[in-house]
Amino acid sequence: MMILGIDTSCDDTSAGVITDGSRILSSVVHSQVQLHHPYGGVVPELASREHLGKINTVVHQALDKAGITRKALDGIAVTVGPGLIGSLLVGLYFAKAFSYVLKIPYVGINHLEGHILSVFLEERTPPFPFVVLTVSGGHTTLYHVEGIGRYTPLGQTLDDAAGEAFDKVAKVLGLGYPGGVVIENLARSGNKDRIRFPRAHLGPDSLDFSFSGLKTAVALYVKKWQQNGRKEVSMADIAASFQEAVIDVLAEKTIAAAERTKVRSIVVAGGVACNQALRDRVKDLASQCGMAFYTPRPAYCTDNGAMIALAGYHRISRGERAELSLDVKSRYPIEDIPIL
Ligand code: KG4
Ligand code: ZN
Repeated sequence: MMILGIDTSCDDTSAGVITDGSRILSSVVHSQVQLHHPYGGVVPELASREHLGKINTVVHQALDKAGITRKALDGIAVTVGPGLIGSLLVGLYFAKAFSYVLKIPYVGINHLEGHILSVFLEERTPPFPFVVLTVSGGHTTLYHVEGIGRYTPLGQTLDDAAGEAFDKVAKVLGLGYPGGVVIENLARSGNKDRIRFPRAHLGPDSLDFSFSGLKTAVALYVKKWQQNGRKEVSMADIAASFQEAVIDVLAEKTIAAAERTKVRSIVVAGGVACNQALRDRVKDLASQCGMAFYTPRPAYCTDNGAMIALAGYHRISRGERAELSLDVKSRYPIEDIPIL
């Protein structure tokens, strides 16, 4: 079965083709980073216009790279939420038109299901059940995954997502958007123990996250540091100390979630999972606890159409079909996805 996946939920126009349920034939991503860079964040109106201008090219590049024509497709999967309404609409209406003209089924996918299942794009995949931390610019959530379509949220951020904190700290340091990669690179030459930024544990049993206090603490620190002539502490020290505070909480809570649900496998996915220091930490802690660690390669951690195609494969092959009246959802809790 040949499935085309499309994701335009935020600031990447992406399309991918998979066959046999998980074999990737292509994954094409048109990033809008340069477009939003001057604004220090995604500008929704600009994002949807850019998707509109690029979607046709990106989909056809994905078909070309896969070495197929549109006639070879058996189905289409498209992200319908959560995300930016104007951006999501571009992908959804493109998918509807393609499905209608080609007379093939299409399904709407929850973007988070895409991230949860993205590890199955790899050769090495976890057995069920497992715990997955999906950590990106819009989300920081721990799920207990018992099978395809069976996801129970265990904890989530009460305010900012971890990626959002990376982006905001990069902004106060004048490093532009997006912040994750820049902070990670800068942190390599910094002292992570130089400044003790706050870690929000939210009580001994909580698996929820909070990053807004940390973000504010860093912003206040940076302001004072600038006023004092940037003395004693380097920007790299600030980046490393901030990153360490985020990683401490993400890693500890992920292990706690696995222990609580008694699973032996841990997955980390989503854009922030590109962070090598986070991957190393979770892997180390998991191995100390006798658990196996899995993560997709960085290109499948950030938003991509292939993970949407994979989620779509499981839904289309089980007979799920979307009506042409399907609409997008800016908020779309995982509990609301169609039951397989
Ligand atoms: O999954 P993604 O591509 O889009 C969303 O669904 O949000 O994630 C993007 C987020 C951004 O906030 C970006 O700063 C963060 O992932 N990110 C990173 C790294 N690479 C991307 N954060 C920390 N370290 C990285 N290496
Ligand atoms: Zn995402």
